[in-house]
Amino acid sequence: MKDKLATLHSKIRESKLGGGADRIRKQHEKGKLTARERVEYLLDHDSFEEIDALVTHRNTDFGMEQQKFLGDGVITGYGTINRRLVFVFSQDFTVFGGSLSETHAEKICKIMDLAIQNGAPVIGLNDSGGARIQEGVNSLGGYADIFYRNTLASGVIPQISAIMGPCAGGAVYSPAITDFIFMVENTSYMFVTGPNVVKTVTNEEVSSEELGGASAHSTKSGVTHFTAANDIDCLMKIRRLLQYIPQNCEDKSPRIEVDLETETRPKLNDLIPLEPNQPYDMCDVINELVDEATFMEVHENYAENIVVGFAHLAGRSIGIVANQPISLAGVLDVESSKKAARFVRFCDSFNIPLLVLVDVPGFLPGTDQEWHGIITNGAKLLYAFCEATVPRVTLITRKAYGGAYDVMNSKHIGADMNFAWPTAEIAVMGAKGATEIIFKKEIDESSDPTGKLKEKENEYIEKFANPYLAANRGFIDEVIEPAVSRRKLIKAFSMLENKAVSLPKKKHGNIPL
Ligand code: HXC
Repeated sequence: MKDKLATLHSKIRESKLGGGADRIRKQHEKGKLTARERVEYLLDHDSFEEIDALVTHRNTDFGMEQQKFLGDGVITGYGTINRRLVFVFSQDFTVFGGSLSETHAEKICKIMDLAIQNGAPVIGLNDSGGARIQEGVNSLGGYADIFYRNTLASGVIPQISAIMGPCAGGAVYSPAITDFIFMVENTSYMFVTGPNVVKTVTNEEVSSEELGGASAHSTKSGVTHFTAANDIDCLMKIRRLLQYIPQNCEDKSPRIEVDLETETRPKLNDLIPLEPNQPYDMCDVINELVDEATFMEVHENYAENIVVGFAHLAGRSIGIVANQPISLAGVLDVESSKKAARFVRFCDSFNIPLLVLVDVPGFLPGTDQEWHGIITNGAKLLYAFCEATVPRVTLITRKAYGGAYDVMNSKHIGADMNFAWPTAEIAVMGAKGATEIIFKKEIDESSDPTGKLKEKENEYIEKFANPYLAANRGFIDEVIEPAVSRRKLIKAFSMLENKAVSLPKKKHGNIPL
């Protein structure tokens, strides 16, 4: 009995690795790990339990019955990451280019069903030539079965996709529905139509890398949230991300024990430049506020005028949304609104409290923005915040102007605790623009229009460019010294730990997509 099993297992290993050393070598030559090696790096040592290793395809066309590999091009199963359960599938490019057959799809669906039923994240390691061409509509149906489950699982369990090779055609829509996409630089690409079709239809000459490589999707399209230098880097980053995320929508965000030492951060007192238009790096503020070296930025190179990411604050997982003054003065535009809205909705789905840092001069004006729908897209962020029921804390470091004040997690749209530094400026618009409008007549009629403008500007700044009017109305709960911000935030999130609010009964809202 033991011998029979041993022979079978060696057959499985051989087959799952794509039929031998030659195929493994080919994968390594491309700078890629094999499907099995990827699973081993991703999961805790020796924790992987494989399912459906003996499955083969059922296709009898095109001589396919002669070519069967155990596992049919995808390794599926479960294991642990940092001792927490996860489900995983890993496509094996060495078997028919990792292409998706009916049975390959069934294996992935089985894993997804188990993940949903058992409330644990599902991680897909994608490396596939797409629909298995020999299987026609059976393969297309298999994709649709996966898309359907991706959608049902959305907001129930975290779904993570790593693109570690080709991902083309309709196949891209499964990762697109999942919560986070990772791409490996130089060895992965994603596009709906590849360079050949692009050339035929638009006459554009473009390489796969330019069209849909990690760089294009992390900077231009925003399709991918993270990029990695190689397979191992990618798998380690997935492990890190999971440290911030609960197992499912009913789980609390993870927490680690930390020793709190001195919670004053004097450096924060000197971070805001004296000149109001001088930029500073909001990531410096974030790193001072959160537990040391815990900030993990999402979408780092896309829409850089807003920063989003995860961190730990006194050992608790939080999501951070922050305007970034060093990029476009931290203005809100189409891309940054979309980026932040999606992140807010992820955090809200999975009970991750939100910290919002505000230094925003307003929405970006211009035809480009209006014609690309800044109205609809800005509304996405507004809607996402309004709808979020997780603990929500805001800290205004400097500017909070116009509609952007309302949108950036103001008290009025449901934020729980709103703090401001003494450097905060909360007003309908900046001093110069406001003065030119409301004192136009006086300035025009003055014998010294420049002097008058300056005088009125100063008057306006004195009245509005501070946090005290808002604090006087209770729209700001407290004006705080920057150095004590970390302590204040820790206390606020701790106070909000058992926050319970519910939204009006509805089937689902209609976010302006
Ligand atoms: C069956 C496939 C395959 C596929 C690759 N192979 N793609 N077999 N169905 N879709 C096989 C190849 O025949 C080859 O088999 C092996 O995988 C490796 O492929 P190569 O071409 O030698 O590798 P490479 O040069 O690295 O090129 C990889 C590739 C290319 C760029 C992915 O194979 C390719 O363009 N494949 C077709 C991609 C495609 O058009 N797919 C359908 C997309 S539409 P042997 O036996 O020689 O090793 C789609 C619709 C989804 O997916 C719809 C969802 C709604």
